[in-house]
Amino acid sequence: MVDFAAMADDLSRILSADLEDEADLVVEGTLRPRTLDEYIGQREVKANLSVLLAAARGRGEAADHVLLYGPPGLGKTTLATIIARELGVNVKYASGPAIERAGDLAAILTSLEERDVLFIDEIHRLNRAVEEILYPAMEDYALDVMIGKGPSARSLRLNLKPFTLVGATTRAGRISSPLRDRFGATYRLDFYTEPELAAIVDRSATILGVSIEAAATNAIARRGRGTPRIVNRLLKRVRDHAQVHGDGNVDEATATAAMRAMEIDDEGLDSTDRKLLAAIVQKFASGPVGVAALAAVLSEEVETIEDVYEPFLLRLAFIDRTPQGRIATDLARAHLSGLGYEIPPPRGSDPGSPGLWDLPAAPDVPETGDA
Ligand SMILES: Nc1ncnc2c1ncn2[C@@H]1O[C@H](COP(=O)(O)OP(=O)(O)O)[C@@H](O)[C@H]1O
Ligand SMILES: [Mg+2]
Repeated sequence: MVDFAAMADDLSRILSADLEDEADLVVEGTLRPRTLDEYIGQREVKANLSVLLAAARGRGEAADHVLLYGPPGLGKTTLATIIARELGVNVKYASGPAIERAGDLAAILTSLEERDVLFIDEIHRLNRAVEEILYPAMEDYALDVMIGKGPSARSLRLNLKPFTLVGATTRAGRISSPLRDRFGATYRLDFYTEPELAAIVDRSATILGVSIEAAATNAIARRGRGTPRIVNRLLKRVRDHAQVHGDGNVDEATATAAMRAMEIDDEGLDSTDRKLLAAIVQKFASGPVGVAALAAVLSEEVETIEDVYEPFLLRLAFIDRTPQGRIATDLARAHLSGLGYEIPPPRGSDPGSPGLWDLPAAPDVPETGDA
């Protein structure tokens, strides 16, 4: 058995749902579903979206603006591409932080053809001046430009061709309400179930020409953190392992060995996840601890912790959010303990004094974010 507790904790984050290298991008391109039918899971989103798209097609108009939100790797960019394809129009890709000036956005908007889709990734990171260009563009397909300077300056309104804005963000609550209000439809993508992930692994294996046994497919799905991008990446690495150490056929033993070698444990956690849990448990007596303190200990951005690491740990019920901060749960302690970590007693656990664990469940904290 691998001694997870003893492993170096600075290894590269295999399970990061962020895009890191070009090779992954290329593979993503080939694996990306192109139609709603090919898009696995997210049944409710698909059902609502197909009505929205059919109605727009029927009227021969641009579809309503769509906001997609959810953790990285769940299929937001893919859906934007599918929306354009189902509407039979072009899609232009942009990202919030990359659009620096109002003029950049104006240039993109004026380049759109009738009913085209404009996809803006990380739309919560648009700066204020740029965002203000977007309001009349979304509402009236209009662009307000200032001509001249000083007292002779005047504003001129230009018409844009009707278009559909598809915005993506990790959390809807990050977006200013004037922007959010201008979307006709908002869809939340949720983590995928294991059977859905298994279906995605199967589909990807077929496309990549990998021969894989059902038990291996399930082993990958189980460790995929509910995230299509991650199962695709695991499949690729497992395939490499099978090619180098075996005959290329992926059976369960090969898959498990490959994932062990990547330091992925049976819950799909990687070294960074474990480092985060271990920090709460060992350095902060299982919490509560504020996310800023955690970020400092882990040398990570608060936003990365909140968007990339926490959602799945919350989903596994390994951590909990309380008004005082994050706590590690009994489940998390049991998981770490099974991997050989030292587990100091949680705060307030000394007998006699009613501690955090004896109190009634903490009130639900509204997830500053998900609206
Ligand atoms: N519903 C799905 N069915 C099959 N594959 C999917 C699905 N959603 C995402 N994927 C795969 O996961 C990868 C990541 O999806 P992407 O749309 O880039 O995620 P996001 O934009 O939300 O970060 C895609 O390249 C695609 O191969
Ligand atoms: Mg994306």
